[in-house]
Amino acid sequence: MVRKRVAILISGRGSNMVALIEAAKDQTYPAEIALVVSNEPAAEGLNRAAAEGIRTAVVDHRKFGKDREAFERALQDELQTHKIQLACLAGFLRLLTPWFVRQWDGRLLNIHPALLPAFKGLDTHARAIATGATQHGATVHFVVPEMDSGPIIAQAAVAVQSGDTEAALAARVLEVEHRIYPQALRWVAEGRVRIADGRCLIDGQPAATFS
Ligand code: GRF
Repeated sequence: MVRKRVAILISGRGSNMVALIEAAKDQTYPAEIALVVSNEPAAEGLNRAAAEGIRTAVVDHRKFGKDREAFERALQDELQTHKIQLACLAGFLRLLTPWFVRQWDGRLLNIHPALLPAFKGLDTHARAIATGATQHGATVHFVVPEMDSGPIIAQAAVAVQSGDTEAALAARVLEVEHRIYPQALRWVAEGRVRIADGRCLIDGQPAATFS
């Protein structure tokens, strides 16, 4: 089996990155983490990746001022230099332009801490509690130009409990994030995911929901 060369793009602590790195330690996992890139030089996740012996790179968006495409060209160069085949956003806090997203059509994954299409954007846990949602969770999806949209590869639901705080709910959602991201990347790396009419089919079937 030839493992797919994967880059993980981060901006912060990198707990989802760690979950992917751990999964890929198994030599039968169909992807190897070949690169971790951060736009934030101080991202905690960079140290963790380096400690695992994974190549890291920083593409600091501040150096490019308002020129978003110049930043993305630098990012793209980094990914191409390392012959990256699939990329995973994992707490990567920059919006990507349609130009960049098109280069990675069907090869760029993101994890979002909500059951999309509910609660796109930030502060998902607080908003789930504030609206009285009874179910919350996490979604892995392919990236398209519109933020937090795109075909869903995997989702897992978490029940909102009475008296839940944002931190408590976030912690339970994070546990399922760490489960579904390696699973979704596995399916994609194995070539089992096909996009048809804007939704994912896995082995020809609609994406299963984890619970
Ligand atoms: C996660 O909740 C992820 O869903 C969201 O950003 C957070 C990143 O956390 N996109 P970490 O850096 O993976 O710990």
